[in-house]
Amino acid sequence: MSRGRILSGIKPTGNLHLGNYLGAIRNWVAMQKDYECFFCVVDLHAITADRIEPAELTRTTREVAAGYIASGIDPARATLFVQSHVPAHAELAWIFNCVARLGWLNRMTQFKDKAGKNRDTASAGLYVYPNLMAADILIYKATHVPVGEDQKQHIELARDIAQKFNHDYGVDLFVLPEPVIQGAATRVMSLRDGAKKMSKSDGGSDYAVIYMTDSADDIAAKLRKATTDPHPLPESVAGLEGRAEAANLLNIYAALTDRTLAEVVAETAGWGFGQFKTRLTETAVGVLGPINAEMARLMADPAELDAILAKGAAKARETAAPLLAEVYRTVGFLPAR
Ligand code: TYM
Repeated sequence: MSRGRILSGIKPTGNLHLGNYLGAIRNWVAMQKDYECFFCVVDLHAITADRIEPAELTRTTREVAAGYIASGIDPARATLFVQSHVPAHAELAWIFNCVARLGWLNRMTQFKDKAGKNRDTASAGLYVYPNLMAADILIYKATHVPVGEDQKQHIELARDIAQKFNHDYGVDLFVLPEPVIQGAATRVMSLRDGAKKMSKSDGGSDYAVIYMTDSADDIAAKLRKATTDPHPLPESVAGLEGRAEAANLLNIYAALTDRTLAEVVAETAGWGFGQFKTRLTETAVGVLGPINAEMARLMADPAELDAILAKGAAKARETAAPLLAEVYRTVGFLPAR
């Protein structure tokens, strides 16, 4: 019995990283047997920031899909597709541009972070991005959206949009989605700076980010250089207060081994960072190594990948069409003949 329907996605900007894996994909894999799943590669979202080299966008779009499958998303169970293959997302997003209020978008912290001081030179797409994300979710009547911490505000906005549309038109068309933010690594931090989120667009040191395509040597080198502090690992979770880097590495270790922070703190109490980093490296390589190899295999012959995505897009289009038609009818657009 399905507990509901999931929709989630990742932007194909740059390489997938450990934050994407632990904050999102690993949880999707765990949830796929209990939910009806739709996972997309959100390429429309990828062009809202800096211009990406077109060939690179094509490559990273496939690579994100390869990352889903290599991590254990089963295309026979879940619907995997590319956002731009399903025009209903963009069509519904336009309607939502007319539902969401400017005041709501002005509160979005991701826009503030990404546009920074250069608001006037940010794209209009970056500003209305949350409306497109709301369309991604609401077009499938998704009940649950598994994401990392940083996406919570966007899902709340999707709920506000759903509610306002339903209310303004006196209908019950849109389902209000619940964010699912679970596991020990809902916010993986940079390996160089425990106060900064691990991010593809970090721009800083490459040592800050573990990519899913990193080799065992890369992972070992990055963890060896990861910022720490001079103290042994604490005896209790409370002992991590003020130790952001230690907390981050322990959370990563917990998420990679499907344990709680308290459990791994109990295991590692009193260890030095040398010992802990060795253990963490073995664990990370053990989890990411096979994923990395499978991604490389899928990327070497994209025909298999493209066929999976084509099948997924057909299913997604079929699922999305009736609701879009109903929205158009509700709004009063003259039916096309
Ligand atoms: P994106 O592409 O930035 O990130 C994809 C997923 O990875 C999670 N994530 C993290 N989790 C923990 N620690 C981190 N350092 C970290 N960095 C990223 C994100 O929370 C996300 O779950 N707007 C979205 C993409 C999107 C979407 C959607 C998501 C578009 N439409 C519909 C869900 C539903 C984004 O930019 O994610």
